[in-house]
Amino acid sequence: MRDLQNCFNQDAVAAELQSVITNLLDVTKEIALAVRQAALADVLGSVQVQNVQGETQKKLDVIANDLLKAALKKNIHVRALASEEDEHVIALHNSGRYVVAFDPLDGSSNIDVNGQVGTIFTVYPGLDNVAADSPLQFFQQGKNQLCAGYVLYGPSTALVLTNGGPTRCFTLDSHHNEFVLTNAKLQVPQNTEEFSINMANQRFWSDNFKRYIADLLAGETGVRGKRFTMRWNAAMVGDVHRVLTRGGIFMYPNDSRHPRQPAKLRLLYEANPMAMLVENAGGKACSEATNKIQRILDIVPDALHQRVSVILGAANEVDICIVYLFKRDQVDQPVLIENEEAY
Ligand code: F6P
Repeated sequence: MRDLQNCFNQDAVAAELQSVITNLLDVTKEIALAVRQAALADVLGSVQVQNVQGETQKKLDVIANDLLKAALKKNIHVRALASEEDEHVIALHNSGRYVVAFDPLDGSSNIDVNGQVGTIFTVYPGLDNVAADSPLQFFQQGKNQLCAGYVLYGPSTALVLTNGGPTRCFTLDSHHNEFVLTNAKLQVPQNTEEFSINMANQRFWSDNFKRYIADLLAGETGVRGKRFTMRWNAAMVGDVHRVLTRGGIFMYPNDSRHPRQPAKLRLLYEANPMAMLVENAGGKACSEATNKIQRILDIVPDALHQRVSVILGAANEVDICIVYLFKRDQVDQPVLIENEEAY
């Protein structure tokens, strides 16, 4: 707790917010233990129920969600909760200063194969003129986030956190059950030769996006003149952790599988916290909407479980991808970017 406390002090984090973050992190230590025990604790497999996203819930999804909700319900500073696993907002304490959203176990298809999974969380100010149980509490731009982070349950348990200042990395010291600061300022290199995408979706992408990926694949003799490599963990938390620690670009673009819902990742508890962590580490995070590219943190949500396309990581590579999205043969044409200041 000493390292975390030092960081809270450096960032001048309000005592009430410290208590919320500490509650969240205490639960992640319990989840880390359950993930490690796995089959020994009988926590693998599914519960044969679908969540609000239409995905089959895994036992660990349910356990992680229940643990987080139970801990935060006791914190008088939390006005409302939103979880990937729950359709509606859960109202808590009317006078609470904060609203908290989380994905209790991101990448849960990895659970049964002993792959990376993680908990993603974000804290916003509660809105006084809005009912505690209203989704409007969460219809705030990502740039309003007071804190964003994730805990990655990998070979080691890593916490990556920003309270508005630098993006820091802590490692769980399992002997003392404490997060110890292991990188005080993560920095995403501006350029990269590593990309992260589910290539199996290629046939559903737009032509411009296909062209961008084709040029990445073309290697040293192609238009990009360098050899790119590819990695895909199928857990955003693991893929973004690699971008934050080693660099790279991570993409889950729009695709044509579900025309009315072309994106997969959720804005509130996936794209926004990751965008804040990446931007505070010097990277960029944007999303493609009809005829424009938006900085993710500027998007005004209109649904609790809204999905958005995500392109994030190395700043220069994100810029190049944006140019492709607006037709490579027309690069002299102005690229329509909402909030040009950010780009
Ligand atoms: O949104 C859940 C999630 O598991 C992300 O963590 C991950 O990036 C993505 O879905 C994987 O999607 P796919 O199974 O299409 O590769």
